[in-house]
Amino acid sequence: MDKRALVLGIESSCDETAAAIVRGGEELISSVVASQIATHSPYGGVVPELASREHLRNLVPVVRSALAKAGLSYAELDAIAVTNGPGLAGALLTGVSFAKALAWALEKPLIAVNHLEGHIHAVLLEQRQKAAEALEFPVLALVVSGGHTHLFLAEERGDGWHYENIGHTRDDAAGEAFDKTAKLLGLGYPGGPIIDRISKFGDPKAVKFTFAQLKHEARHEPKRAGRIEQNQKRFDFSYSGIKTAVLRYVETHEMFGAIEERRAALLQISAPTDEDFKRLCDRRTLDLVASFQAAVVGDLTKRTLAACEDCGVRTLLVTGGVAANSALRRSFEMHTEKHTGQKTPNGGIRVHFPSRLMSTDNAAMIAAAAYPKWIAKDFAELDVSAEANLQLR
Ligand code: KG4
Ligand code: ZN
Repeated sequence: MDKRALVLGIESSCDETAAAIVRGGEELISSVVASQIATHSPYGGVVPELASREHLRNLVPVVRSALAKAGLSYAELDAIAVTNGPGLAGALLTGVSFAKALAWALEKPLIAVNHLEGHIHAVLLEQRQKAAEALEFPVLALVVSGGHTHLFLAEERGDGWHYENIGHTRDDAAGEAFDKTAKLLGLGYPGGPIIDRISKFGDPKAVKFTFAQLKHEARHEPKRAGRIEQNQKRFDFSYSGIKTAVLRYVETHEMFGAIEERRAALLQISAPTDEDFKRLCDRRTLDLVASFQAAVVGDLTKRTLAACEDCGVRTLLVTGGVAANSALRRSFEMHTEKHTGQKTPNGGIRVHFPSRLMSTDNAAMIAAAAYPKWIAKDFAELDVSAEANLQLR
């Protein structure tokens, strides 16, 4: 087993162009992320065509910068890893085409990585960096981002990592609900970090939101080998209802005029501060934002911990862009062993997050997820393609 393999990771599935070099799946040597926030901000969301064009512009400089920061040449790399899905088709295609060309020209192996697997490995990479104690298997991972709210049982076997999806959102992802709510309230893009920042100024109990009881139909899938068993029970989420509830609240309380004024005022400020947001939001808006965040966080926590209990899991990974949310971290920590330092009513579940920087999209997580595939010689052919709806299993 070559612990020193140097993997270049490339990520372009959404609105971040990223490259990173990770040695042996555990040592982060360099990581560069070119954000496209400025490009998409005026539209209040990611414009797929613009994202692809930005990736085309950024890929070469970002990869060169990752190599320069690492003090490495292309020839010293052992493998090229790239996100091949899920994500925006055009955006993925730019990264995949670039990585294929690079692997072919350098005569190095190409490793295709699922973006969601990358988010899971962001936690594992940092766990290894901390030389933390080994995780107790099986592990449950909540991947909660702009495109996904997925629960996976994960375990490492001899031939690499295996995943079973036991729940996902039936409509909007949690991050999408943050982004759409912020857009509706004229707060800007991306909405998650803004709502996170200003929720502390509002009363999280001011507006009551309810979540529908979701009926879970039993699945009929063949049993797979290994410790992950077929799970009849599902732990799905739904976040489009709360977005509509916010809209109804805004209509009922005739808030549209103030929202348009706020939107226009914020467009004039390049980097709004907490004070700017506070000045431009009335009490009712601040309370609405805080209540929205508390409701989503509460629902994510409740459903995820129910899944942990049902599956007898004691190790929980919470990852993806929304895992950067302060209230979400606090909520999970409060309900797990990390907070109390002793067994909780949840059977002593331990929760692990990536650092905030590693929660959102980056390429270090892609290079880290590629390492077990390098060991297993699980290489992609040069005809591998981008798959917008790639499943993780
Ligand atoms: O993982 P990510 O960078 O990209 C996807 O794979 O989607 O996640 C981006 C999402 C966006 O919806 C963004 O609003 C949300 O993560 N996000 C947050 C926070 N930081 C990013 N949501 C809530 N609180 C945050 N602090
Ligand atoms: Zn992501």
